[in-house]
Amino acid sequence: MTNQKPVRGFLFACTDKSEAECLSGLLFATKRFYGPIVIRIRKGDLIFLNNIKTDKLFGVFKAITNGGINLRPNAFNGKYPYQVKVKPVGDIIEKTGAEKLLGKHAIKRNRPLIGKGLIKFLEGFVSIDEQLKLAEGQEGNKPNKSILKQIDILRKGNMEIDIEEEIPLIESTTFWDFPKQSYGLTPKGDNKYAGVTPALIIYNLIWRYTQPGDLVVDPMCGSGTTIDVCKAEKRKVKGFDISPPRPDIIQNDARRIPLKDNSVDMIFIDSPYGDNIKYNGHLDNIGNISSESAEFYDELEKVMAECKRILRDGKVLGWLIGDQWVKNKFTPVGFKIYERLSRHFEPIDIICVNRRGQSSNTGIWHNRARRFNFFLRGFKYLIIVRNISEEPRPKKARKVEWAYYQRGQK
Ligand SMILES: C[S@@+](CC[C@H](N)C(=O)[O-])C[C@H]1O[C@@H](n2cnc3c(N)ncnc32)[C@H](O)[C@@H]1O
Repeated sequence: MTNQKPVRGFLFACTDKSEAECLSGLLFATKRFYGPIVIRIRKGDLIFLNNIKTDKLFGVFKAITNGGINLRPNAFNGKYPYQVKVKPVGDIIEKTGAEKLLGKHAIKRNRPLIGKGLIKFLEGFVSIDEQLKLAEGQEGNKPNKSILKQIDILRKGNMEIDIEEEIPLIESTTFWDFPKQSYGLTPKGDNKYAGVTPALIIYNLIWRYTQPGDLVVDPMCGSGTTIDVCKAEKRKVKGFDISPPRPDIIQNDARRIPLKDNSVDMIFIDSPYGDNIKYNGHLDNIGNISSESAEFYDELEKVMAECKRILRDGKVLGWLIGDQWVKNKFTPVGFKIYERLSRHFEPIDIICVNRRGQSSNTGIWHNRARRFNFFLRGFKYLIIVRNISEEPRPKKARKVEWAYYQRGQK
């Protein structure tokens, strides 16, 4: 086994408009929502280009840089900032019927080719005759020879799997439901930590509102999920907690954050929802205060004011919060937190996150909820707000054009 990192294969797309620039500039590029795939590309990985208009596939290319942002900022008129520089492996081969071919190998933009799957796909670029010639040690023709050499290197190389089978795409609706706490090959936070956050919530926020290299802060970081997600997605990160369970989290009270004004690109907070969970015995833990009391919101509002102070203008805060129902009393914690947040920030949206993994998610509790006529908490709110400077922004005129459909017509 060599020490070389395993080689993976990635697919880029182009149209007739961008094909020439891709092939002449040897720079493949895409939009932000495929950013999570591009930043996982390493120098030496293999790349294919699909013209989705002509159904052609071009290959084989090798990445000569890691995937990144704005490697050539003016390329494609700045429309496609996530980029990788490539060089062809031998002559460029052009194949028709790309959709069928990609379907046969179950290749999608967010499903990298790995191990034997990559070898099999590469073999598709080389004729059977050429493969036989290679097996017999004979010389082949030039374009195929380089690919065959590449196949040989792959066969002898590191076949370890070090990338997700499917890289998550960002959510498109305001309802998010993640079956598992983590994603990818490494844990994100500690799924045994009481109140741990589903990692894909943070993943979605950072891919929508930050870019690689930006600084993300979590002032109530618990088991460190935000730190682990940010590292995997190439963001800078600082995590604080009143009682940190691991050494890379800085002990700090979120009501006084030791960071400069206007210095942070995004904040994520999954705060206590009241005193329903015993996080730790620290006296300054806001999770010791009941969400039925005004004090709970007053203390969290101090955290909000600190977030506003450290966030750059126009940047985003995501706050995860759930309601409370205890002993026949409902407390709309989410609405109350929203009301406090809206004193300091401009709303962007509210996401409903399916509340899985609750300790009350058992047959007994579901039965009780039906028998005693109450509801178990089924969702949390992810409140997304933006920091705005005190100066009101000039509002752009909005003209909404609804699509009205006629009713009652066949
Ligand atoms: C819901 S947990 C956060 C979970 C975390 N996102 C994770 O994935 O592990 C809330 C955290 O807030 C912390 N906390 C409570 N009061 C705090 C305070 N005054 N300052 C900083 N952290 C505080 C608790 O210690 C707890 O770890």
